[in-house]
Amino acid sequence: MIEEAFQRIYGSPPEVVVRAPGRVNLIGEHTDYNDGFVLPAAIDRAITYAGRRRADRRVRVYSNDFQASVEFDLDDIQKDGKNTWSNFLRGVSKFLEGDGHHLAGADIAFGGDVPREAGLSSSAAVEVGATAFWNKLLGLGLDPVYAVKLSRRTENEFVGVPCGIMDQFISALGRRDHALFLDCRDLTYRHVPLRADVKIVVCNSGVKRALAQSEYEVRLKQCREAVAKIAATGRAVKSLRDVQLSDLEAAQGTMDNLLWRRAHHVVSENQRVLEAVRVLESGDLERFGALMNQSHESLRDDYEVSCKELDTLVELARKQDGVLGARMTGAGFGGCTVNLVRADAAESFAQAVGEGYEEALGLKGEIYVCQASDGALVSA
Ligand code: GLA
Repeated sequence: MIEEAFQRIYGSPPEVVVRAPGRVNLIGEHTDYNDGFVLPAAIDRAITYAGRRRADRRVRVYSNDFQASVEFDLDDIQKDGKNTWSNFLRGVSKFLEGDGHHLAGADIAFGGDVPREAGLSSSAAVEVGATAFWNKLLGLGLDPVYAVKLSRRTENEFVGVPCGIMDQFISALGRRDHALFLDCRDLTYRHVPLRADVKIVVCNSGVKRALAQSEYEVRLKQCREAVAKIAATGRAVKSLRDVQLSDLEAAQGTMDNLLWRRAHHVVSENQRVLEAVRVLESGDLERFGALMNQSHESLRDDYEVSCKELDTLVELARKQDGVLGARMTGAGFGGCTVNLVRADAAESFAQAVGEGYEEALGLKGEIYVCQASDGALVSA
């Protein structure tokens, strides 16, 4: 599809094609920017880049999704206030150049089927795809973790949106039929196999994540404040990753209830991730599902990043046969839920939740039965 668009726009086939997937997070929400643990999987929806080298320093880029083209010069990369879709590629290109990688001009077409603003990390896929594209086109031999960090830096410093490292990491380093267990402090990771008899089903509420960025910033700040309060009691803590539930109980008098609940979510979520990885590896999917359910409750009540539509989808999901666990996924305030469902029940689950959602709220959700997929840099 993108190859065809490339051919149509530029008149000959591309030299290289690269795919970067979106992601769903199974458990470990709002833990990445607290140096904690996450367990995402890359999904079979991706952003594809197709391109070829040019002899000069111009970059021509066509967005198949926006049906628009822009051009920029590698020697003068500025943010584009109008065609904001081009800023991911601009930022990645600027930071690669800044780090001493000499790029060549290129003709590029990109686009894909990761829904935008749905909490499935389409931006991370666009960034990681851009990084992986340059890597492949020019044979840069980038270290994958460096590529992940550069992609995240683009989101934070060029596009100007705060985020942790989870989304870029999984888009680059996910593996087919596996989830990825990542320690966001030292960036060590391992792939955890997903069984073929369960499916990851994603329910898209269709609610755009309106409050997401401002509330995300508020949560970031609250987490830092909670750390400062706990550190002031004499405990050696750098982030909520270093805090145990017992420390939190002991520090209860030092912070108000709101701050305490924010910290409680993160501290308890980290513990849930560690247990979730253990039980996934031992095959106890019932327990894994129970932990997903607890994660949702904690995000809804302690961290307060859910919303009516997500809660409705979760409640509907839990009534269906074959469901092991259901929770909101991603930053919250709209977007998607993630559900672990027995494979033989996945189709009827998808239908029943879709219908129930429309009946309950008069909204049309979209349901995707997903396949865990390879990241953009797994074979790079
Ligand atoms: C967004 C951010 C991630 C992470 C999640 C919440 O997806 O991009 O870094 O913080 O929210 O878990």
